[in-house]
Order: sequence, then structure tokens, then C-alpha cells
Amino acid sequence: MKRSVSENWEANAATWTKLVRAGYDIYRDALHTPAFLEMLPDIKGLNGLDVGCGEGANTRALARAGAKMTGIDIAPTFVHHASEYEENEPLGIRYLTADALHLSFDDAQFDFASAFMSMMDMPQQGDVLKEIFRILKPQGFFQFTILHPCFVPPFRKNIRDENGKVTAVLVADYFENIDGSLETWLFSSVPQTEREQHKPFNIPRFHRTLSEWIGMINAAGFILEASVEPMASKELAAQEEVVADTRVTPIAWIVRLRKPQN
Ligand SMILES: C[S@@+](CC[C@H](N)C(=O)[O-])C[C@H]1O[C@@H](n2cnc3c(N)ncnc32)[C@H](O)[C@@H]1O
Repeated sequence: MKRSVSENWEANAATWTKLVRAGYDIYRDALHTPAFLEMLPDIKGLNGLDVGCGEGANTRALARAGAKMTGIDIAPTFVHHASEYEENEPLGIRYLTADALHLSFDDAQFDFASAFMSMMDMPQQGDVLKEIFRILKPQGFFQFTILHPCFVPPFRKNIRDENGKVTAVLVADYFENIDGSLETWLFSSVPQTEREQHKPFNIPRFHRTLSEWIGMINAAGFILEASVEPMASKELAAQEEVVADTRVTPIAWIVRLRKPQN
């Protein structure tokens, strides 16, 4: 029987938590989160919601930057691991199991919202954007990062030279609106000896084109305020070979949206 999005993420959650906490999500830790934080406005004292928080590493980064954070995730095991971390090292974060499509918060509760690599994993992203718009105060912002719609469509393959250096990226199926097709993988930096101990993740993908994302952002009522496509520096690419492909094309698209005053 086909599993739902939440069932797939629930099945991924324990292994995902273990592997990211062991440092195997190198794109996230070395490139994408630092770029996200660099782009973020001052959040000291603001009330923030992190949507699709997973085990909470990025929610904690926002709390350490001074925000009063709430993290929500559809998978209870992620919320359990994030809450356990909070009990051991309190940052004043509240975690809840919730679907981003139906938030239980009143209108205009939050100064800002964030979502790190979760929006492309959700169906009905247009409705999720409307829901986030609803819970934001006027002039509040929503900053999120997703797999880059142009450079990580359903098919992507790195082309390498004889030394293994990525020289080009092959992409295809850009116009295929996949709705929940499963991608099965583990972080590429997990060593071979360890790979056999883990069941690969099954990730339901909901790819949309760049124009569709811009259309959904506009339809929700947001103003697209800023956009960044993180690229590894030469030094970082030499240090962490896995992210060197972002010097050819980006993997992530980070955008900041603003809810207008009226
Ligand atoms: C790629 S993980 C990213 C986790 C975390 N934000 C991070 O950067 O480490 C995507 C997350 O989105 C969550 N998710 C997927 N669909 C969701 C939904 N409809 N509502 C809330 N969370 C969802 C998953 O359970 C998973 O934790």
C-alpha cells in the first residue's frame, strides 16, 4: 500500500536524526544554513515559526540568534528528538507535531516564519504558503530554502572529468509536476561501511517549476523580497568535496517573502 507523506517521513525520522547529528548533511551544515543565516534580517526578540523543523538543528540556530521559536513537523519522531534535545539544552523552543497545511495558530501570531528544505517535500505548496501568510503579522516575513527548481528537478546528474571534478550538471524532467514520487537515498558522505547499517530514506518529492513557485508566492499575497543561490567558496569546496558541485550550479534556492502591511 502507498504510504502517505507523513508515514514516509515518520519512517525516515530516526535514521535521519542519527545521520544529521553525526554530521553527514554537509550541504546543510557547511553551506545552506550559513547562507540562510547570513541572509536573515535581525530576529532578536521576534516570535518565529520553523515549518518542517525535523530534529531541530536549524530551529536551534534561530533560537541562538535571539528569536523565540516554535518548531512544527509532521513526523512525531522528529518532534520527539527535537524536544528531547530541548530538555537537555534548553533554548526556550516549543515543538509541536503538525501539518503545515493546517496550522492551529490564530491569525497574525508570528513576526516571521522559516522553512529549511521542507517546502518542496509538501503537497499543495500554494495552500501552505497561504496558511503561513495567515499566521504572520502584517510586515512579517517568511524565509525558506528549497531544492533549486531549475537545477534539482526530478532528474539531476553530475558530470565529472577524469579526476572526479564536477564540470557540468545534467538536468531533465523540469516540467514534470511530480506529486509524491519517492526518491530513495542516503547522504552521499555516509561511509560505505556504515551504509549497510541503514535503510535508505524514502522522500516524497513535489517538484514545481520556478514560474510555478513565483505564481504561488504571488497568489498567497507575498512580496518576493530577496533571493540567494548559495555557492561554495573555493576554500569550502576544497575542504568539503561533496559541495564542490555548487560551484557549477546551485543546489538550493533561498527566498525571503514579505507580508504587506495591508
Ligand atoms: C528535508 S527535511 C528538513 C528538516 C529540517 N528543516 C532541516 O533542515 O534539518 C524535511 C522535513 O519536512 C517535514 N515535513 C514534510 N511535510 C510536512 C508537512 N506537510 N508539514 C510539516 N512538516 C512536514 C518532514 O517531516 C521533514 O522533517
